[in-house]
This record gives sequence, C-alpha cells and structure tokens, in this order.
Amino acid sequence: YKFLVLNGPNLNLLGIREKSIYGDFTLDDLIEKIYSNFDNRLDLVNFQSNSESDLIDRIHESYKSIDFIVINPAAYTHTSIAIRDALMAVSIPFIEVHISNIHKREAFRHNSYLSDIAVGVICGFGTDGYVYAVESGINYLKNLEK
Ligand code: DQA
Repeated sequence: YKFLVLNGPNLNLLGIREKSIYGDFTLDDLIEKIYSNFDNRLDLVNFQSNSESDLIDRIHESYKSIDFIVINPAAYTHTSIAIRDALMAVSIPFIEVHISNIHKREAFRHNSYLSDIAVGVICGFGTDGYVYAVESGINYLKNLEK
C-alpha cells in the first residue's frame, strides 16, 4: 500500500515549538519513527507545508497514486473547507491525526472540518498517533480486500 503522510503549518517546527504540548521529536524524527515501526518496509511519501494551496495540490496529485492518507492539518483543521473539499474530491480514505488532545485545549480547536469524513481521528497520543494511524490504515485497506 502507498501512504501519504501530510503535515500542515508549523509542524516543520516540531521539536522547537511549544515542547510541553508537542514534545521534542522533530519532523524528521517523527518520519523516522514511523518507518522504524514498520521495519522500514513502508511505501510512504512524506510532505509538510505551511501553505494551504500546496497541501491541496499534494492531495490532488495523490489521486490514483496513493491508497491512504494520514493527515495532521494543524491549524487548517479548524478553518479549511478547501482541504476538506480536496479530500472529498480525490476520495482517498484518510485518518486525521493530532499530536495534542485538541478537545482538552481552547474551544476554537474543538471543531474540525475533516473529522466527519475521516475513517477515524487520533489525537492526544503525541507523535505515536502517526504510527497508530498508519497501522489502522493498513488494517482498513486489508479489510477492503476481503
Ligand atoms: C495540532 C492541533 C492544532 O490545533 C494546532 O493548530 C496544530 C497542531 C496537533 O497536532 O495537536 O498546529 O494539529
């Protein structure tokens, strides 16, 4: 299976930004951790952008070439109808991941424009959430084959 791991704005600063919330893993550490959890045998494309339009373009490019998306849309979670529409347009199954438990935080983080169209949502487990999401994605795709 081909996976796309998409990370939104400010996640390039993982390991620097608000460490008490997001931990001290850098984005590179995080991608490394995903690979190593699957014996480096994953077919995975990793993309981070601070730009909404670049994230949307990447989703469009994935049409027909990616089987599953793991996306942490970061702040765009709470604002972007355009990212929602892009995910619907390509109809690639996806899991929404948040490092922090967004429901424990400010009220404006409680709403997501993606959750109701996601296969599932994982939040509050730190960077482990990405590993859980890939594992769940594999199970989801295996079940489709049955
Ligand atoms: C986040 C939560 C968002 O509310 C925030 O804007 C982020 C990161 C998370 O991973 O916990 O940038 O998506």
